[in-house]
Amino acid sequence: MTIEEKLIAGVQSAVKALYGMEATPEQVQLQKTREEFEGHLTVVVFSFVKAARKSPEMVGNEIGQYLVEHASDVVARFNVVKGFLNLVISDAQWVELLAQINADPKYGFQPVTEESPLVMIEYSSPNTNKPLHLGHVRNNLLGSALARIVEANGNKVVKTNIVNDRGIHICKSMLAWLKWGNGETPESSGKKGDHLIGDYYVAFDKHYREEVRALVAQGMDEETAKQEAPLIKEAHEMLVKWEQGDAEVRALWKKMNEWVYAGFDETYKMMGVSFDKIYYESDTYLEGKEKVMEGLEKGFFYRRDDGSVWADLTAEGLDEKLLLRSDGTSVYMTQDIGTAKLRFQDFPIDKMIYVVGNEQNYHFQVLSILLDKLGFKWGKDLVHFSYGMVELPNGKMKSREGTVVDADDLMAAMIDDAYEASKERTKQTDMDEDEAREVARKVGLGALKYFILKVDARKNMLFNPEESIDFNGNTGPFIQYTYARIASILRRAKEQGIDVSDEKVENRPVRGLATKETELIQKLSQFPAVVRQAGTDYSPSGICNYCYELTKSFNQFYHDYSILGEPNEDLKYFRLSLAKAVAKVISLGMGLLGIEMPERM
Ligand code: ARG
Repeated sequence: MTIEEKLIAGVQSAVKALYGMEATPEQVQLQKTREEFEGHLTVVVFSFVKAARKSPEMVGNEIGQYLVEHASDVVARFNVVKGFLNLVISDAQWVELLAQINADPKYGFQPVTEESPLVMIEYSSPNTNKPLHLGHVRNNLLGSALARIVEANGNKVVKTNIVNDRGIHICKSMLAWLKWGNGETPESSGKKGDHLIGDYYVAFDKHYREEVRALVAQGMDEETAKQEAPLIKEAHEMLVKWEQGDAEVRALWKKMNEWVYAGFDETYKMMGVSFDKIYYESDTYLEGKEKVMEGLEKGFFYRRDDGSVWADLTAEGLDEKLLLRSDGTSVYMTQDIGTAKLRFQDFPIDKMIYVVGNEQNYHFQVLSILLDKLGFKWGKDLVHFSYGMVELPNGKMKSREGTVVDADDLMAAMIDDAYEASKERTKQTDMDEDEAREVARKVGLGALKYFILKVDARKNMLFNPEESIDFNGNTGPFIQYTYARIASILRRAKEQGIDVSDEKVENRPVRGLATKETELIQKLSQFPAVVRQAGTDYSPSGICNYCYELTKSFNQFYHDYSILGEPNEDLKYFRLSLAKAVAKVISLGMGLLGIEMPERM
């Protein structure tokens, strides 16, 4: 039983004994005691006033008295302010709770069982014509954090990715490579495959724009020029050949996509994200066509005179949506319907979450209605986890303007910065070069991940590299530093022969705990609720906030009290256990965000 549950039961018996009232657990309103009063938890007594026919103050005092007499193991003392009964929880309870926290390796997490619902989470979903950029970083971090949070809330999770590997975009890269590549390969140039392909995409665009400009100079209007430029026509021809299964085009397409995947894999690995199942648009778009035809037969969709197939969503307050072009080729929506079909064949999905930027809000609104019409039981309640744009402080990141913030470059720069920033400090330790590099990796990536995840996902944001790596602020490194500090205290304790996992802390008769100590344990006790809330709200930022608050509370405690210098052995042991629990909860919380903790820094 948690402390809250014990208190609720205590209050229930109090009002029964005192006023003959049968209170339900829900009638016992419990809240955290406000800063200005003494106490940990507060009972709001107004719901008992009627049955008691006494003033709120008297009711508070009577219930408080009852609890001190009958639940003295839980309640040490109380005070009443108006209708609020402020309870001071006994030291023994806090110590017992601390012991429980330290004993549970998955503290705050719900177990996943055979019966758990299956949640599929899609994130990343890149196109194969260019490397991942800062926007993908936000997507991947949010998606993988969400996957861990949803799993920690007792769900089976399948992490998935849909790679948009076919279409005009990849044909552009292919064409440019054929024209100007001279057979360049990742091996011949030492370039990462996704970067290599991205460079040809940029090259295509450059030459294409030159062609358009030349046509406009000859008097053609811009819109026509964009369609008539030889390069774009050639790219379209290539796409048609691809759709027809032309062996040469397919072979080139396969080869170039393989280069891209090898590149993506490296990026994902560095970022610490992974997938259980990857889908490819080239496999799913035909399934989508099939499904659309099925919907057409059933009368959900209609065909226009030119042969194109549409969904009429005016009854739902939306407009009409194209599903198949007049030439029978599919659109983005068709691919998503096909992907849904394959996914549902592969997994018994109860809930589907799509992590995709907010520029696609309308697309997912439509998709939800279409999937529902087509009989997907999770279609109606699919979650579009929609997030805002992320930029660097010095301006937008648009690939065509050539200022795109590349994910690999960004991660490398963060790690370098972390390395430089800690050089002075690590010189004073016996850390060797390998360890210093490994710590820099954790800290640099921790800074990046934390800074992005602490922001409400729906909001647009600026990623500020310098601010993210500041050791004194609401940052990943600040929290990591506190963790490393605790790890060092525990190492030193071990050198003195004290191992806090040896003996149960509740066997040590510590009493007279300081407020900063009990409040720190109370903060730890909130972790399960924080995990639950993050799961309900789909909010990694809630976990960030909590880790930051916990870290600050620990630092305040550590500022005022000494741990290893404490002469009373029992108290010292208690404080070590407390520090250990804080470190553990920090690492569990940050672990949900995909942030690793260094044992020293
Ligand atoms: N590849 C797409 C893009 O870059 C995003 C795909 C999102 N996922 C989906 N199921 N539609 O815009």
